[in-house]
Amino acid sequence: MRFNSSMKVTRDIPSTRTTVADARRSGQRIGLVPTMGALHAGHLSLVEAARRDGAFVVVSIFVNPTQFGPGEDYERYPRDTAGDLRQCEAAGVALVFMPAVADMYRPEAATTVHVARLTETLCGPCRPGHFDGVATVVAKLFNIVQPDVAYFGQKDAQQLAVIRRMVRDLDWPIEIVGCPTVREPDGLAMSSRNAYLSPDERRRALVLIRALRDARGRIAGGERRARVVVEHMRRIVEESRPEHVDYVAIVDPDNLQPVEQIERPVLAALAVRIGRTRLIDNLLIDLAGDGA
Ligand code: PAJ
Repeated sequence: MRFNSSMKVTRDIPSTRTTVADARRSGQRIGLVPTMGALHAGHLSLVEAARRDGAFVVVSIFVNPTQFGPGEDYERYPRDTAGDLRQCEAAGVALVFMPAVADMYRPEAATTVHVARLTETLCGPCRPGHFDGVATVVAKLFNIVQPDVAYFGQKDAQQLAVIRRMVRDLDWPIEIVGCPTVREPDGLAMSSRNAYLSPDERRRALVLIRALRDARGRIAGGERRARVVVEHMRRIVEESRPEHVDYVAIVDPDNLQPVEQIERPVLAALAVRIGRTRLIDNLLIDLAGDGA
């Protein structure tokens, strides 16, 4: 594919390394935004953050098979290469890296990255192996691109916590920047998976943000018992008759362990299945009830 702008597209690892090395030699800081494509304003906000930092912005687009469980949506995950490249170009991305599955996972690959504990709460039990898939592919992307800084969305708060921990534990000289969740005007968190929702499911999906805002209001009003906040959230979610509630939780934002008394900023998080679509959302809430 050719573009009039200076944006480059690479599909193999050696030319990706060469392109990034050239940029680094010219004195630029390398900023990586890992994605699975089907780009929306949430992804583009990460690109904008990287641009604001003055980085040479690398976006990776790779629907990573190892982070999808059996029966999950790997095959039907939305893919729109032409649209993604157009959006990257318009957003001022310098390099898009879109590897093939066979280049990322060679035959007889035997190594995975496992982050313990943080992956055992929230989405962990519902998606066995998911965070190993995420940690492993992000580790590979870090080694291929060797960024100075990498950008991740608060939308996937557990993923962000796992990656921060991995980078700390493995002494990677990479700064991890967490970026606020971008929402539709009615509050639904943007997600590539929102494309699966029927109009009725799209309306019902608003219970996630409704429950999170209820939690924020209660905490601002002085409620300190996490159990009480969670009960109200659960009641709100169940009013929309979801197919399944995977979890509703108030946890510590760093170690993701459940909190009993709310004495510090907390992460309110939930995962709900609406129709065939699993949706997640969260809010970081401080004691004054501020939070995004
Ligand atoms: P993907 O779901 O495509 O998301 C790529 C990045 O965009 C993640 O850091 C995610 O948190 C962020 N993002 C998604 N929706 C957002 C929103 N509404 N507001 C702000 N940021 C948002 O997350 C993944 O891909 C993969 O697990 C990946 C890290 C690429 C590894 O395969």
